[in-house]
Amino acid sequence: MKKDFLCLSDWTREELEAIFELCHDLKAKTKSYEPHRLLEGQTLAMIFEKSSTRTRISFEVGMSQLGGHALFLHSDTTQMGRGEPIKDTARIMSGYCDGIMIRTFSQAAIEELAKYSWIPVINGLTDMYHPCQIMADLFTVIEHKEHYRELKYCWIGDGNNMANSWINAASVFGFELRVATPKGYEPDTMVVARAKKAGAKILYTNDPVEAARGADVLNTDVWASMGQESEQQERAKAFTGYQINDELLALADSDCVVMHCLPAHRGEEITDSVIEGKHSIIFQEAENRLHVQKAIMATLMEFKACN
Ligand code: CP
Ligand code: NVA
Repeated sequence: MKKDFLCLSDWTREELEAIFELCHDLKAKTKSYEPHRLLEGQTLAMIFEKSSTRTRISFEVGMSQLGGHALFLHSDTTQMGRGEPIKDTARIMSGYCDGIMIRTFSQAAIEELAKYSWIPVINGLTDMYHPCQIMADLFTVIEHKEHYRELKYCWIGDGNNMANSWINAASVFGFELRVATPKGYEPDTMVVARAKKAGAKILYTNDPVEAARGADVLNTDVWASMGQESEQQERAKAFTGYQINDELLALADSDCVVMHCLPAHRGEEITDSVIEGKHSIIFQEAENRLHVQKAIMATLMEFKACN
């Protein structure tokens, strides 16, 4: 039975921790140039309907290091851009490839792709979630701090795909999360309701100071995500006071770490001095996309099914 990586809430804590274990091993092998060609001869199709630097490079390099091949496909230059149904694309790709990574707008579209594919599908970001990023983020926290489940995590900014994914993570892993968003920019109501039902320890507030006080992990993202560029100015006004800067950082725990999935708008949601400062683990976080996604692909593509 094939398994997909569409949303963290589809997985158990034990399954995700097994991915972290594999990631430790693969990262060590990568650093020492020890071969680990777990996906020899396999091909990952990468479908992009939005821009990317980190996701594209890390999946492509990751497949190469695992002994396989990655195929970059932009929807504009395939028949998908001309309206070929997702369910047909799913079956065609399943006949040629061993896995699909897709970055698109709607979560429903990747669920449809996964339903009609008989090869694993990985979510490389939708408007709703960015699960690979959160796995890299948590792996980075684990590398820097002991007892990652006992830390206080804090989200400051937009209630976007990253915020929704942090809520899922708090629910699955059981750690404390504070989410501070301006009024009108709260996380998805279905995601919030599901986390509440699961008993997640999450504080929702419109006060960034309340969220940041004593936090071990401070996290933010751009105020206007891909597809929201026309709202940039209106959002910049609404998000005044939600910047991670030295003053907000001073309220957090003295050993806190700061994260950002990147790309960042320096001087908007986060200052240059925080990104470059001693609490920032932002560039280790970015590198870990490579290692975590290799572990995800190796885990999923072992379940490769024939149909
Ligand atoms: N963080 C992230 O997904 O970056 P890209 O948009 O560059 O892939
Ligand atoms: N929230 C951002 C994340 C980019 C990696 C976006 O969707 O554009």
